[in-house]
Amino acid sequence: MDLSYFSNKLTTGLDSLHYGDQPTALYEPIRYIMALGGKRIRPLLALLGAHIFTDNLDPVLKPALGVEVFHNFTLLHDDIMDQAPLRRGQPTVHEKWNANVAILSGDVMLVRAYELFFDVPAHLLPTILRRFSETAAEVCEGQQWDMNFETETEVSIAQYLDMIRLKTAVLLGFALELGALLGGASATDADHLRQFGVGIGLAFQLRDDLLDVYGDAATFGKRVGGDIVSDKKTFLLLTAQAQANANQQAVLARHIGQPVLSAEVKVHAIRTLYDELEIRPQTEALINSYFQDALQHLKRVEAPETRKEPLLQLALQLMDREQ
Ligand code: IPE
Ligand code: IPE
Ligand code: MG
Ligand code: MG
Ligand code: MG
Repeated sequence: MDLSYFSNKLTTGLDSLHYGDQPTALYEPIRYIMALGGKRIRPLLALLGAHIFTDNLDPVLKPALGVEVFHNFTLLHDDIMDQAPLRRGQPTVHEKWNANVAILSGDVMLVRAYELFFDVPAHLLPTILRRFSETAAEVCEGQQWDMNFETETEVSIAQYLDMIRLKTAVLLGFALELGALLGGASATDADHLRQFGVGIGLAFQLRDDLLDVYGDAATFGKRVGGDIVSDKKTFLLLTAQAQANANQQAVLARHIGQPVLSAEVKVHAIRTLYDELEIRPQTEALINSYFQDALQHLKRVEAPETRKEPLLQLALQLMDREQ
């Protein structure tokens, strides 16, 4: 079955969502960010996870959209925290309106996200709400680590990996687990799918960090170089710090943890350093190794391989995405 079958279902579901009317400054930004689209991979993962076990995706649609509304809430707040001007090729909510609007619209999106879970079958409701709450708190933990690390000098690669597991990967894992549970999977299979999601989530965030340096702003839809400007301790920077020679250490010392005189100069200097140290192929190798590890979990799900094909297709697309 083609991926477009699943995305069409999502689009129809999204079009039928009603967030609220008044005051418009609360609800208009929600319609704005949701209409900008994005890849919508999290609700897709939920549908694809369910598809492995059932043909009836109707009960999965609303909770899957709940995950997408939650994700968009995190983006509103993340863009304030990261001072990001662009999202999906358009001005961020805090730029178009202001930070207070982005905070409060985000807050009500979290509430709306919860509401989209209310109609799951009664026997699954406690498990799903508990797992969603755990995951949402982990995303906040990851976000705070990410912010803490901006001003820390001794961040290890292990700490970075744990940070991205929390801020990004667990939500992809939850989306798959949710779909699996609603599709009637056993607890074991739902957990393998969750772990597959966490694995591709780690690879996904590594790819995001790579695109932040090497992406094309028009396709990526975000300001390129933003992570460099704010001293994000990405795998790219940490690897460069570990492998730099004396001259290259001097370049790092001049730019990291220092007031930014010119964003352009800083981004150019750090990107040049990454090129010299071949950070890009090293990052791609790590992405690939997470993807291969994740596949082991997908293999262990007890279902015909044909039922897993659309999910595998999406995962493959994500690994070398440009958007
Ligand atoms: C952006 O997520 C935040 C990260 C976890 C990297 P996506 O790359 O899924 O963003 P959209 O929803 O497609 O715009
Ligand atoms: C995003 O990490 C994680 C969450 C939004 C929870 P980033 O800050 O790297 O995401 P982008 O690059 O702004 O989409
Ligand atoms: Mg961020
Ligand atoms: Mg960000
Ligand atoms: Mg990013």
